[in-house]
Amino acid sequence: MLDKYNRNISYLRISVTDRCNLRCTYCMPEEGIDLIAHEEMLSFEQIINFVEEAVKTGITKIRLTGGEPLVRKGIIDLVRLIANVQGVEDLALTTNGILLEKYAEALAQAGLKRVNISLDTLNPAKYREITRCGDINDVFKGIDAAKKAGLTPIKINCVRMPDSSETELITLKEFCQSNGLDLRFIRQMDLESGDFSIVEGGEGGNCKICNRIRLTANGKVKPCLFNNNEFDIKKLGAKDAIKKTIESKPQEGSQNKIGKFYNIGG
Ligand code: 5AD
Ligand code: SF4
Repeated sequence: MLDKYNRNISYLRISVTDRCNLRCTYCMPEEGIDLIAHEEMLSFEQIINFVEEAVKTGITKIRLTGGEPLVRKGIIDLVRLIANVQGVEDLALTTNGILLEKYAEALAQAGLKRVNISLDTLNPAKYREITRCGDINDVFKGIDAAKKAGLTPIKINCVRMPDSSETELITLKEFCQSNGLDLRFIRQMDLESGDFSIVEGGEGGNCKICNRIRLTANGKVKPCLFNNNEFDIKKLGAKDAIKKTIESKPQEGSQNKIGKFYNIGG
């Protein structure tokens, strides 16, 4: 379906949980995180119903995000259910890679096409610092498992922080080149102040061609990451919420004072 500015809305991002097994400094506070109550989380049934309605309005591409999508209980079953909805042509997932060694093969079997993996540095100590608790070797094992499972093309998401060094980024570039990985640089953004920019090597952050809507883990549909607007599928029903979301998609992003990256999924 076209929005008011003639953009064809065909891409749905679903945050399947706001929980995460890491605590990246730019994404989550160390403690005191406002989590969605378990009883508020959408069930698989509600998510599938939403996907079916979304496909009817012209969605063809779906990406699962989080938090960390692989910590959602039953994620393999959810992937299989979504992959089986008629009209879903592209199904991808954004992960920190920690659990990929365990799940890559099953995800591919269930119908997932490809993964984006977050990796901001190749330096193990720096990785631990950024994620507050992650072991970079788990990510390397995850990348290998994703390759073996055929979850390709694999894209690496690198968030450039104000203190990321040029040499570090060059090392990452070389690593990706020699391992057949696509690298995208995302400048650290701030939802509250409306500080965002175009993703280098990707399509995110470019309002003119933005074809996305987002569903949060508790059932709010958002027309734009950098906007407070949201429509509750539990109150409106999926169909009406999608229609209102597309109709109200702003020409460009401004600020989001209520959402967080970990509950909208970036
Ligand atoms: N700025 C930019 N990207 C962010 N992400 C999370 N927080 C931020 C932020 N402040 C994105 C990263 C990460 C994904 C899970 O969420 O791209 O790879
Ligand atoms: Fe977790 Fe991703 Fe946020 Fe890091 S950026 S804390 S891996 S959701």
